[in-house]
Amino acid sequence: MPEGAEKKGLQLLVEQPTDNVVAYADRRALNQILINLANNAIKFTERGSITIRLSRDAVEDGRVRIDVCDTGLGIAAEEQDRLFRAFSRTSAGTDRRIEGTGLGLYLCRKLIDLMHGEIRFTSVVASGSVFTVLLPSREAHLAAGRSSAAQAGGANSLAETGA
Ligand SMILES: Nc1ncnc2c1ncn2[C@@H]1O[C@H](COP(=O)(O)OP(=O)(O)O)[C@@H](O)[C@H]1O
Ligand SMILES: [Mg+2]
Repeated sequence: MPEGAEKKGLQLLVEQPTDNVVAYADRRALNQILINLANNAIKFTERGSITIRLSRDAVEDGRVRIDVCDTGLGIAAEEQDRLFRAFSRTSAGTDRRIEGTGLGLYLCRKLIDLMHGEIRFTSVVASGSVFTVLLPSREAHLAAGRSSAAQAGGANSLAETGA
């Protein structure tokens, strides 16, 4: 877990279902994505909590869902459109001199696209943000019959990852 939450007095919560939820994803890429999102949540939150929640998507049960929720600064509606662009940072972050390159979310989206997933967020200024990552579940991947392709070529790079 990224450092910094404790120093700021933020509560860190992890919620996961009792049964196994397994995504079909690249383990290193998924780690990188979660570190990016958790770091953002910590950076842009002054008080309250960060919650990382693993679940099966309620809408499409073939997908694994990871929510990274914070009670932080939030993102103004007019700044939300460009969040995933390279080098994009909101004024709230730059005004407060919070460090960053503006590449984290851009790279997260690239990696998630490569894994046939999706990233989206909802945010309310001064209340907080929820970043949601949706990835194919292992079961859905196997059911789709794509497993043979992975065995032929990508077996080393594509691991079955329990997030
Ligand atoms: N959890 C969050 N709460 C508020 N703003 C956020 C959050 N995550 C990202 N942002 C905004 O999106 C911008 C882009 O994020 P990112 O691409 O990770 O860049 P960086 O962290 O290097 O600034 C951030 O600079 C910040 O303005
Ligand atoms: Mg970042």
